[in-house]
Amino acid sequence: MASCDPKFDLEQAFSKGIASAISDEAAKGDPQIKASNDNKHGDFQCNAALAIARAVGANPRDIAAQILAATPLAALGTAEIAGPGFINIRLGDSALHTMLDRVCMPDLGIEPAPRAHAIVVDLCGVNVAKQMHVGHLRSTILGDVVARLHERLGRKVFRENHLGDWGLPIAMTMSALKRQKRDLKSLTLADLNHAYRAAQLESATDEAGLEAARTRHAGPHRIIELEIQHGSALAAEQDAKATLLRLQAGDAATVAQWQQLIDVTMTEVLETARVLGVDLTNKHSRGESFYRDKLAPTVQAFIDAGLAQVNQGAMVVQFSDRERPLLIRKADGGFLYSTTDLAAVHHRVNTLHAGEIIYVVDARQRDHFRDVFDAIHLIGWDNLADGTQAKMSHLAFGSVLGTDKKPLKTRSGELFTLKALLDEAIQRGTEQVKLRAKQTDSPTEGTSDQEIADIGRAVGIAAVKYADLSGDPIKDYVFDLDRMIAFEGDTGPYIQYAHARIASLLAKSDATESAISNAAWIFNHVAERALVLAILAFPATIKNAADLGSPQRVCSALHELANSYATFYQACPVLKAPDEATRLARLRLSQLTKRVLAQGLHLLGMEAPNRM
Ligand code: ARG
Repeated sequence: MASCDPKFDLEQAFSKGIASAISDEAAKGDPQIKASNDNKHGDFQCNAALAIARAVGANPRDIAAQILAATPLAALGTAEIAGPGFINIRLGDSALHTMLDRVCMPDLGIEPAPRAHAIVVDLCGVNVAKQMHVGHLRSTILGDVVARLHERLGRKVFRENHLGDWGLPIAMTMSALKRQKRDLKSLTLADLNHAYRAAQLESATDEAGLEAARTRHAGPHRIIELEIQHGSALAAEQDAKATLLRLQAGDAATVAQWQQLIDVTMTEVLETARVLGVDLTNKHSRGESFYRDKLAPTVQAFIDAGLAQVNQGAMVVQFSDRERPLLIRKADGGFLYSTTDLAAVHHRVNTLHAGEIIYVVDARQRDHFRDVFDAIHLIGWDNLADGTQAKMSHLAFGSVLGTDKKPLKTRSGELFTLKALLDEAIQRGTEQVKLRAKQTDSPTEGTSDQEIADIGRAVGIAAVKYADLSGDPIKDYVFDLDRMIAFEGDTGPYIQYAHARIASLLAKSDATESAISNAAWIFNHVAERALVLAILAFPATIKNAADLGSPQRVCSALHELANSYATFYQACPVLKAPDEATRLARLRLSQLTKRVLAQGLHLLGMEAPNRM
């Protein structure tokens, strides 16, 4: 099937030209095809001649002329040499027509690019009994989009929600709840969160306080008082440890309570995922507890392979290039977060047959993943049965900050929960849509309250998600609802609005569906060509975004497309086009733009309302 990617076709053609004019060796390099900055000079340029000329010590214009003479361009367009040796290329109309026809097909020109092996996306990763906060927002949103992109290319994807559902923190929470005599049946996640924090504070502050009192020679009364408190903390800790033992031993009542904690947590997490429009359900949960019986054998495997050593009673894996070892078993025999992650890789490679594992996790865990990946290489657990090696990567993201550049707070000063934040975004989105609906001639004038609420929700969610997805993930970003929700600028609502405007335009036209889809392409105006090029860039963007794990690329391609459409719409009247053929061609281009925007929004997990 014909390609719809002009850049790719030009790369192919110029590589052939370079091979026959210069050498096969030179053709191995990047032919350096770039979109032109200035469409007066052409649509693309090839900059390869300069580097090749430098390498062989020749005149770059001569080299450019030789390459151009040997490049099979005829089907694509025309080219001329400019400046010190650039080759400016203008695509021919018939090449553009063929490519546009290809993008008009139901798959929008995005061809499947399956892989032999499945891909695991490790996302969300909330901790049971702890409130899901804005940090988890990023993992869930980014991970969902990375998964969607791979799925769109026909790849088998496992979304793995590696819940923190095992170990002492959970046991501490359970034991704190028991001391508070709380009825587990009526608990909310907020209650669990309080119990969790209380349990943590109890053990941490008492010990620290006692230590401080002793070293600072506090009066005997103070020390005794603290010792009593510390005693109760120790008792709490012992109770937590006993709870953990019962849990580990599979004691039915303890396990049932533990399951209740998970259920309370997951009900809220999955509800949030639903509101976010993220594909995350119970079937994606495979928490740390899943690996509990694999931890001792994991450590044993490292010992047997001669890769683990005893260090102050603990078991560690040492690396040749750094001091920091990876702790895999504590001196008291307990296992760690890292032990679980090692066992999880084993499962993912051997049972899920994953050829790639993408961890969408906070950047602060960078060292952890570096150590885990290196330990896995050492023991060879990344080797698939067919001899290929699984690729593991950490898609690390930064923090979400408030407008004061500090961790995000609510108006009342508490840390934002994810739910509160989304509620606010939806409310603000709805206000925006309501405001517009009041204007006469607005497409939403007279819309029912229910429909306004639905559109407002879609806008609020897109605002939050787009802000999260459109930047470099590693950077911290400021959560500024005012900016995010705007219908102008680099925002989700701007792209939704571009889509909705085209929908209204199409609704106003009386042309039939078949008249539009059979219209012959016509483009004379530079704004039309620019729009066509923005459309044609889309299929390749999806493939690159998937392969590089970069939702950001999808955002910028859509932003570019929405901008190109706005310029086109200004310059080229659609409904009032000079003649019928031009009107139909512009309607067809508008309709294709709308489809591409809708597909892009869908891949970003955002809705594309037809009215805004
Ligand atoms: N529960 C962890 C946390 O909140 C995140 C889990 C990430 N995934 C993993 N395989 N370690 O920090």
